[in-house]
Amino acid sequence: MNRQEDYEVSERFMKRWSPRSFDSSYPLYDEDIHKLFEAARWSPSSFNHQPWTFLYAHKGDDYYETYLSLLNDFNKEWAAEAPLIGFIVAHLKDPKGNENRHALFDCGAAWMALTMQARDLGLYTHGMGGIHYESCYEKLEIPNDEYQVVCAFVVGKKGPAKELPDDLKKEEKMNERLGTDEISFNGKFKRRKTD
Ligand SMILES: Cc1cc2nc3c(=O)[nH]c(=O)nc-3n(C[C@H](O)[C@H](O)[C@H](O)COP(=O)(O)O)c2cc1C
Repeated sequence: MNRQEDYEVSERFMKRWSPRSFDSSYPLYDEDIHKLFEAARWSPSSFNHQPWTFLYAHKGDDYYETYLSLLNDFNKEWAAEAPLIGFIVAHLKDPKGNENRHALFDCGAAWMALTMQARDLGLYTHGMGGIHYESCYEKLEIPNDEYQVVCAFVVGKKGPAKELPDDLKKEEKMNERLGTDEISFNGKFKRRKTD
């Protein structure tokens, strides 16, 4: 794995990564928050069902502490510095009440749009699967027969890594990737060397 581009792509992709150090003094303005969800809004989805719902709390909101309590201890440790915590919720049924098999895929697309818009605003996102799923349904009143909590995320300005707990400081860097020749194949399916 490495951090080199195999082929040149828009630098927007290489500039996106998921830091854990956020600047707690940066408040995140409503105007920017609206733009994040506006970008997500225009994502493609199966039959244009738009199965995504974004829930969010801004630091200082009534809900912020509740949102923080829904993260696992590992994530709580660093995410508390970020000015915005959100949850992505997928609607698993289409308007006729049938299963929407592509709901999670579509939520992922909307999440990436939000993330890229964040980078355009000089902000960063960090997705989190480490959350207390059952409590999310209860505390945020999400009907669990029809909706699925996909993950949580934070948004904010990057802060200095030196303020992170010691164990996280060394992890605070851009990640590597498998090569394009390990994730894309012309023709039939092949297992990756690493599988
Ligand atoms: C759905 C999802 C769940 C994730 N869960 C966590 C998490 O609970 N805690 C964490 O620190 N990072 C989490 N991450 C961040 C990933 O580890 C990170 O995106 C991955 O290592 C690639 O690094 P990059 O985003 O910096 O390129 C998650 C990312 C996604 C998309």
